[in-house]
Amino acid sequence: MLTRLPALVDVHVHLREPGATHKEDWASGTAAALAGGITTVLAMPNTLPTINSVETLAAGLKQAAGKAHCDYGQYIGGAVGNAATAAAVAPLAAGLKLYLDQTYGDLKLDDMLDWLPHFAAWPQDWPLCVHAESKTMAAAILLAALHDRPVHICHVSLAEEIALIRAAKQAGLKVTCEVCPQHLFLCEDDILALGAGRAEVRPRLASKADREALWANLDVVDCFATDHAPHTLQEKDSATPPPGYPGLETMLPLLLNAASEGRLTLDDITARLHSNPRRIFRLPEQPETYVEVDLDSRYEIRAAEQHTRCGWTPFEGWQVNGRVVRVTLRGQTAYEEGRLLAAPGSGRPIRH
Ligand code: NCD
Ligand code: ZN
Ligand code: ZN
Ligand code: ZN
Repeated sequence: MLTRLPALVDVHVHLREPGATHKEDWASGTAAALAGGITTVLAMPNTLPTINSVETLAAGLKQAAGKAHCDYGQYIGGAVGNAATAAAVAPLAAGLKLYLDQTYGDLKLDDMLDWLPHFAAWPQDWPLCVHAESKTMAAAILLAALHDRPVHICHVSLAEEIALIRAAKQAGLKVTCEVCPQHLFLCEDDILALGAGRAEVRPRLASKADREALWANLDVVDCFATDHAPHTLQEKDSATPPPGYPGLETMLPLLLNAASEGRLTLDDITARLHSNPRRIFRLPEQPETYVEVDLDSRYEIRAAEQHTRCGWTPFEGWQVNGRVVRVTLRGQTAYEEGRLLAAPGSGRPIRH
């Protein structure tokens, strides 16, 4: 029997176009999204060149328009000196992304003095997302509080982070957050088996206690997101492995499997992949769009069956209960039983 879920959104993906399309591009990344039961992706700006101006945002959206198989948005990155420019195009961007800790790409804002203009200029009603871990996260929440504005914390991974987010929400601060499958299903004990290069990811895999703290505080987790960060196997197994895991094709099956084990409910999943992202990111409804899953279909996750270009998954060989069978986008079957049916360019932008 098939179960129908509504349109599902991944608010945090890296699609590597422009600049690294050997890892992923708008076509392969959105094909992977549909295969994973995701009908909207919001793409991060740490591309090559980075998306940090009117021109680079327009070029990115143009590339997406011709190639995307599902609906899409594109973030603009906060850089030194672009706060006014970014704010002016806010209605066209998925949101503003600020990189406040070291990670992959060239967008890191080292100096807190460079954060201030962004918190001041970016419009209140469009999403402001931060890569900010541990005490950096606390500082980002302080800046949002000083400006009485919403902030969305990407990829929460630590017990101390989720505790602080709970306290901030209780105090009435406008903080929302996302958690990724790697931090719910993996921890530092898995690094040896994965191999050091493949295990590289930001935020790093944390302790078992951190992982359990995320599960114990699911009520303060607003969104699930993949942080789909494809790098090729060759890159991951090299002497300088870049951080990041693919995730678009494994997030929903892993969550459905957790539901089959009673760790969360289908409503918990729908709230964090449909209703909450839609509200926080001001996304339009996708009419006649839904995801059909088979909750009783047990299968093995295999990179060889994925649509992502990166060629691997940290969940290789995992047995999961819960398979994406069919995805319908605006009344058209976009994906069915391993086959991509949506034409390139059939995805629509979330902003106009
Ligand atoms: C991301 C990437 O590869 O772009 N890597 C990662 O480990 N998560 C960057 C990021 O999301 O911080
Ligand atoms: Zn990040
Ligand atoms: Zn990311
Ligand atoms: Zn809805």
